[in-house]
Amino acid sequence: MKSFIALLFNSVLFIAFVNAQNPVQLQISQESQEVKISRNIYGHFSEHLGRCIYDGFWIDSSVQVAAKDRIRLDIVNALKNIRCPLLRWPGGCFADQYHWTDGVGPREKRPKRVNTTWGMVTEDNSFGTQEFLQLCELIGCEPYVAGNVGTGSPREMANWLEYLNFDGNSQLANERRANGHEKPYKVSFWGVGNESWGCGGAMIPSYYSDQYRRYAEFCKNYPGTSLKKIASGSNVDDYNWTEVCMKNIPLHMMWGISLHFYTLAGNWQNKGSATNFGEDEYFKAVKNSLFMNELIEKHSAIMDKYDPEKKVSLCVDEWGIWTDVEPGTNPAFLHQQNSMRDAIIAASTLNIFNNHAERVRLACLAQTVNVLQSLILTKGDKMILTPTYYVFDLYKVHQDAVRLKLNFSSPAYNFGNDKIPAISSTASKDSNGVIHITLVNTDPHHGYPVSTSLSGFKSQNISGKVLTSLHVNDVNTFEKPDLVKTADFKGFKRQGDQLVIELPPLSIVMLQIK
Ligand code: AHR
Repeated sequence: MKSFIALLFNSVLFIAFVNAQNPVQLQISQESQEVKISRNIYGHFSEHLGRCIYDGFWIDSSVQVAAKDRIRLDIVNALKNIRCPLLRWPGGCFADQYHWTDGVGPREKRPKRVNTTWGMVTEDNSFGTQEFLQLCELIGCEPYVAGNVGTGSPREMANWLEYLNFDGNSQLANERRANGHEKPYKVSFWGVGNESWGCGGAMIPSYYSDQYRRYAEFCKNYPGTSLKKIASGSNVDDYNWTEVCMKNIPLHMMWGISLHFYTLAGNWQNKGSATNFGEDEYFKAVKNSLFMNELIEKHSAIMDKYDPEKKVSLCVDEWGIWTDVEPGTNPAFLHQQNSMRDAIIAASTLNIFNNHAERVRLACLAQTVNVLQSLILTKGDKMILTPTYYVFDLYKVHQDAVRLKLNFSSPAYNFGNDKIPAISSTASKDSNGVIHITLVNTDPHHGYPVSTSLSGFKSQNISGKVLTSLHVNDVNTFEKPDLVKTADFKGFKRQGDQLVIELPPLSIVMLQIK
């Protein structure tokens, strides 16, 4: 009798839930908008900072893992798996104190310097130009080099490019050959300074835009490589920086202009823990990350005034969540754990980038291994993949696909007196005609039914994957590396020509229709 009452009660509850929830109607237009989602939106950033390069990618013989030279191959393979398209290096703030000649030639002859930005540690320069380019070759990604404006000179920058890209007979090209690379490296993505408003030289925008013109003028296109020069752009909502640069720099002199925005759950003095937080900080961090949408819209509107044909790309070449460091680690090394919250932030942000793909053509998450919102954490010979890694694995299907227009209204995720949209999404069609839909549900308490029409889709073989976890602060650890990882998703069914998806709470879903 007791169990009959329980059953009845549960059924009533279930019916009430279904009735209360009209499915979210997701309209996917079959018409192409002719906008391609550039694969370079899925780029990454690795700086000489903490354990990203040294004791991250680049190991010594005490670490017992397969390596090519000193490059860890388990990391390389993980990045290949997510089709990492682009890697930015050597900084960050480090870029404007880096002199490339310190990092070429025989390693035993390279000078030791001090990394004055990140902890005053000794930089032995064992990882330099040829090692970075070997890393990119192993991953199969494009290098994106940030050149030094702050403490460099136009001549130093011009020489680096000649060393890298000139195929003919010159002292610098021959030096490259003597260092083991006969053919030019063909590096095309080229940053002219980093955060030139701050650690890159504390410049004002009119001064920087003059300097940009001067430096960029001497960055030559050697035969076979056309440079994609990227100006150092705004700090978050410094719209004046974008305005002045767009006004002063002729469009033909820049391929892109950058934007840096980091998400905090608190403030710069007290950023909040990466693991020890509740729904309050979860909500704040996710809400703050969604500010990316407004930033892109407002910077793009300024760019539109000077560049209505959208020739210049907005390059969000540093983004991600920045928390307090893991207790007991060097504060200058910016080593943080990575949770299910961070995966939700990554997926929501990638949806924002995809939905602005007509202007955003490059982005780099900060910073790949062991620093800030990492894809990968290492400890000795162990390596774990973070929840954020799995987002890039799910979303790789959008790389270079044609975006499909979406229309829907999201239910609200309410917290206290505040609210944010629960659902965000991207839909795209790849070169084989396969359609992919990614959906994020930020709401940790409610699942939502989402319904979309299948009529008009030629092939209808549907499969799905999901990333979800019980708690917003669930993380993968070296002891439990697989707590948060993708699984097959079966929570969808056809109803006539409708596809009805039961989007779980706190989840990221990728559906493939082929
Ligand atoms: O990613 C860490 C630092 O954040 C970078 O070095 C700098 O560009 C930014 O301020």
